[in-house]
Amino acid sequence: MRSLAILGSTGSIGTSTLDVVRAHPERLTVVALAAGRNRELLKAQCEAFRPRCVSVGSREDADWLRAALPYRPDLHWGETGLMACALHPGADTVVAAIVGSAGLASTEAALRAGRRVCVANKESLVVGGALMHEAALAGGGELLPVDSEHAALHQLLDGRDRATIREVRITASGGPFRDWPLARIHAATVAEALNHPTWKMGPKITIDSATLMNKGLEVIEASVLFGLTADQVAVTVHPQSQVHAMVGFHDGTYQLQVSANDMKLPIQYCLLYPDKQPGPVAPYPWEAARTWTFEAPDLDRFPCLGLAFEALRTGGTAPALLNAANEVAVAAFLQGRLGFWDIQACNRDTLSSLQATAQGSLEQVLDADRAARRHAEGWVQARA
Ligand SMILES: NC(=O)c1ccc[n+]([C@@H]2O[C@H](COP(=O)([O-])OP(=O)(O)OC[C@H]3O[C@@H](n4cnc5c(N)ncnc54)[C@H](OP(=O)(O)O)[C@@H]3O)[C@@H](O)[C@H]2O)c1
Repeated sequence: MRSLAILGSTGSIGTSTLDVVRAHPERLTVVALAAGRNRELLKAQCEAFRPRCVSVGSREDADWLRAALPYRPDLHWGETGLMACALHPGADTVVAAIVGSAGLASTEAALRAGRRVCVANKESLVVGGALMHEAALAGGGELLPVDSEHAALHQLLDGRDRATIREVRITASGGPFRDWPLARIHAATVAEALNHPTWKMGPKITIDSATLMNKGLEVIEASVLFGLTADQVAVTVHPQSQVHAMVGFHDGTYQLQVSANDMKLPIQYCLLYPDKQPGPVAPYPWEAARTWTFEAPDLDRFPCLGLAFEALRTGGTAPALLNAANEVAVAAFLQGRLGFWDIQACNRDTLSSLQATAQGSLEQVLDADRAARRHAEGWVQARA
């Protein structure tokens, strides 16, 4: 039986994780749940799963939950509450599904405490990849990627002699603006950017999918997870989102990983690894006729992908600078304070204005994150 702490339980990945738990009551149990502001959904989750430890964003919501719940879990709030869930002694597995670099410290702490950490929170790997590896090594933690492309790569690379591998390729749906001319992309609205063609996800990652920043973060994530250089990670646009990743060998051949585009599959992969069991998603329907297409990404219309490669080549805190600028720019876009095309401009300006340093300690990485946020906020205000 695996005992889970789910950080970000009320989000898209969090709720899918609970669906996987429901499908495996004899293998998975929930010990801790942490969320931000959605106290009604968290209450319903607590009633269904009865976790011993619960954390919510604010003290007020913790008080509300204490009064509303029909049982008495340990109730926490804020950063310390998140950490209490991440480090709960009854949990052997942590699902890191908070959005943004807010998930960095809890992911690092869980790895350092020797947990299996199923990381959906790609930002923590982008911002502090070396630190995550170091924490896992120091504490005996195990890092498994929930992102569909990286879970696919994990399956393709598992047990492989790395010397045989020439490159890995992750696929991108291309997002809602894949076919749009540049002039139309310039003026894209929030509603248009949130209308993702193949995946149903939280708002931040959905905007990142429209700019291809999400794929850029995933390129960095792949490099961090599998020890690859920028030249060994490539992106192929595949609008149907059925092939998730490919591994290319020196002899010119490729292996591909195929599944339905349902996040419950990579989540279950991480939770049950190395076991493979029937779960909540039906086997791939090969009887249905379908067409798969593949094309190269267009870096002129989607410059954020190029910026991610640039940050990866620079190394050190450059990915953290880019990620923080992007979090600020996406939030400003969602609030109507920036235009869609401004997101890439803000990211570019932050990356070129601030000096990247070696990653160093967690505090140094967080310093870089804060400096980039300040710079990007200034950029947004100057633009308004
Ligand atoms: N969605 C996908 O299909 C997908 C696929 C691959 C990777 N990912 C990655 O997974 C992560 C989560 O994505 P998502 O789409 O699930 O996001 P989401 O739907 O926006 O959910 C985010 C979750 O984090 C919680 N949260 C945010 N800030 C918090 C804080 N400071 N303290 C405690 N909880 C906090 C939210 O709580 P409240 O809602 O209660 O405020 C919510 O439960 C992201 O890093 C994303 O890139 C997502």
